[in-house]
Amino acid sequence: MKWQRPKVIPGAGLNSVQQDYQHIEVKPYAGACGAEIFGVDISHPVSKEVIEEIKQAFLDHLVIFFRDQLIEPDSLKNFGRSFGSFHIHPYVGSLEGHPEIMMVIKNPEDKYNFSGTWHSDVTFQAEPPLGSILCGMEVPKFGGNTLFSNQYLAYDMLTDTYKMMLEGLNAIHSAENVYSHEGEYASTDYQDKHAGTPIRADSSANIRVIHPIVRTHPETGRKALYVNEPFTVGIEGMSEEESESILRYLVKHAVQPDICCSFRWEPGSIAFWDNRCLQHYALNDYPGERRVMWRLTINGDRPV
Ligand SMILES: [Fe+2]
Repeated sequence: MKWQRPKVIPGAGLNSVQQDYQHIEVKPYAGACGAEIFGVDISHPVSKEVIEEIKQAFLDHLVIFFRDQLIEPDSLKNFGRSFGSFHIHPYVGSLEGHPEIMMVIKNPEDKYNFSGTWHSDVTFQAEPPLGSILCGMEVPKFGGNTLFSNQYLAYDMLTDTYKMMLEGLNAIHSAENVYSHEGEYASTDYQDKHAGTPIRADSSANIRVIHPIVRTHPETGRKALYVNEPFTVGIEGMSEEESESILRYLVKHAVQPDICCSFRWEPGSIAFWDNRCLQHYALNDYPGERRVMWRLTINGDRPV
């Protein structure tokens, strides 16, 4: 196999964007995306001015992190409400009495983890979430990081010729390979080795929706690649063979290490990511340890 010189990333330096923040401190966490936010306590009402700056940091850095938060269901929801209405996952269980707070659990004896493939959340629905607020409730002593990949940069790195080919193409998205009765999470092996996260397989997972392969972010106006391995099942108007070769290339291209950020969890950490321009991946490198996360998901709009 021929060795290929690594590509130069045209968007490098994106994360050095420095806005003039008056109420919060914003420290970039990695080169491609991600920033830690200081000066916010979500256990108390957060002022409008601070929320406005958090929204700006979210758009600038794609995923923002908060540390040492006291996380309780009601205050978490009060904080989340500033960013939109809540999405309820159709197939994953929630915290008792709080249907909006999805539970992601890996027990010490579980072999598989939830979200262990690169993806954007819930792209199998017509209006996928704007973003998710993931809270570290019980985290392993080491390992269990979440990785994020910048899909603006994934798009920017394509050649102009490839971009032209993708222009106007739509992809087919579905949860059929994941949450249907024949899907990954319904398989006996998975159920045996992953009792943690409560998942309910359903035939509604076979529904298919169409999204553009390149979406324009509704707030920044930037173009982002918008395909992911578990939920993108084909390209509209193409044979299975044709679409498979393009999708296989794109999902690999979309998650190169140079455009990623790896977030290290501590108890009380929160990651709030923009699901419209990022993919994420939960590392499964902490056998024998328990990891419990709460996820509050914010509704989004139809990708264009
Ligand atoms: Fe996810």
